[in-house]
Amino acid sequence: MRVPTTLAGCFLRPWRQDDKPALLHHANNRNVWRNLTELFPHPYTEADADVWFSIASTPGSSLYLAIDVDGQAVGGIGVIAGHGISQYTGQFGYWLGESLWGRGIATAAASALAAYALAQPQFVRLEAPVFIWNLASMRVLEKAGFVREGVLRKSVFKDGQLIDSVLYAKVRDVSSSGEALV
Ligand SMILES: CC(C)(COP(=O)(O)OP(=O)(O)OC[C@H]1O[C@@H](n2cnc3c(N)ncnc32)[C@H](O)[C@@H]1OP(=O)(O)O)[C@@H](O)C(=O)NCCC(=O)NCCS
Repeated sequence: MRVPTTLAGCFLRPWRQDDKPALLHHANNRNVWRNLTELFPHPYTEADADVWFSIASTPGSSLYLAIDVDGQAVGGIGVIAGHGISQYTGQFGYWLGESLWGRGIATAAASALAAYALAQPQFVRLEAPVFIWNLASMRVLEKAGFVREGVLRKSVFKDGQLIDSVLYAKVRDVSSSGEALV
């Protein structure tokens, strides 16, 4: 599987064991960790990479992909599938190695994965809560067509602080009765 993006040399693909050196290089970064959930540890060790490869190799209905730029995995992007009443909602997330920030890579990756995921039967809604200080990620989501739905007050405890997060979502157009769904 390979999801192209609009950026030359940049596409999304499954993680591979031989991505480990690149994963450790780009993921072991406090500025990346500071904007993510506890699923992304710091420091980021070899054991953490092994856990990640195990999760990513058994995705079920979820999508766990590497952002590949010029042949190297430089970040991750994915959608975690929901269950029960949230079975058509996916939790959308991404990160990029800091040395590559500011080149439009996250925007290209998020736009491509959102389009790909919403074309799959299991995803009608993609949502992404963004920490209040993460203006770059809010911009990425806006450029990828997500809508700011509201502020979740004091919803996140991160880096010693209790902060608000901002909920962004992108939805596929389906009938409100749910007839088209299985
Ligand atoms: C957020 C992140 C993915 C952005 O990656 P990126 O490839 O640098 O993003 P892009 O270059 O596609 O776009 C960034 C946008 O944010 C803007 N931006 C960057 N820093 C900003 C700031 N401090 N305030 C406002 N806007 C900012 C850029 O100008 C750009 O917008 P523009 O194209 O309109 O000028 C990257 O910084 C990252 O991995 N951060 C750590 C993990 C993370 O935050 N993940 C998302 C969790 S919700």
